[in-house]
Amino acid sequence: MTLLQDGALTAAFDSASTAYDRLVGANPGYHRQLRRSARRLALPDGGEGLRVLDLGCGTGASTAALLAAAPHAEITAVDASAGMLERAAAKEWPGNVAFVHTPAEELEQAGVSGPFDAVFAAYLVRNLTDPDKVLNGLRGLLRPGGRLAVHEYALSGAARHRLVWTAVCRSVIIPAGSLGPGGADLYRHLWRSVLEFDTAPELAERLTAAGFEPVRTAPLPGWEYGILHTFLARAPR
Ligand SMILES: C[S@@+](CC[C@H](N)C(=O)[O-])C[C@H]1O[C@@H](n2cnc3c(N)ncnc32)[C@H](O)[C@@H]1O
Repeated sequence: MTLLQDGALTAAFDSASTAYDRLVGANPGYHRQLRRSARRLALPDGGEGLRVLDLGCGTGASTAALLAAAPHAEITAVDASAGMLERAAAKEWPGNVAFVHTPAEELEQAGVSGPFDAVFAAYLVRNLTDPDKVLNGLRGLLRPGGRLAVHEYALSGAARHRLVWTAVCRSVIIPAGSLGPGGADLYRHLWRSVLEFDTAPELAERLTAAGFEPVRTAPLPGWEYGILHTFLARAPR
């Protein structure tokens, strides 16, 4: 299958948005893993006085994880899908969160300007048509020394992790997704995009090539071990 991109991907997220929270809620680790990655940003003082960008916030699961890690941060949460963003914005937010509807490629035009102290991008980078361009832009939006956490499905490179990913997608994720309003396309895209995108070492290299330093790759536990990672990096000082 051809991977979904740009407008087609946004349309797929729009269609899936009404069932998205229910679907990810069926994965008991989904929110826990996001909270782990958000904590790994190690934002000081509960985020007091810090500006944080949640890029590709979807229905707000990553935003909630950021708020749990840094309840006092000022969060700008951005997404290209109006449907996903509408669901996020309709929730009650205990902290300082502003939602902005824009693709990651057009942040400046949408009035999203730096400097940010940190950026969190959960399940986004693999979906970008030109990830290098967006990553370079993010480096420019961060203050010197600002932190980036990319929470992403990126396979270790070991054959067993590739097999586990395909088995879980075929037996659980795609069948469950196909029952939702958008059908199975988005979940087939999820499966193939992980197989076709960077392995974890390749994604770390991509971040280094985009000018981030130092890049640390931290695995996440459970069945996603070797499949889901946090990539931690900083903008140069
Ligand atoms: C798998 S969801 C993850 C949402 C959220 N970060 C989470 O952890 O639950 C990916 C989100 O990225 C958004 N997205 C994909 N490509 C994008 C782009 N180019 N610019 C902004 N958002 C994008 C989608 O609309 C979708 O809401």
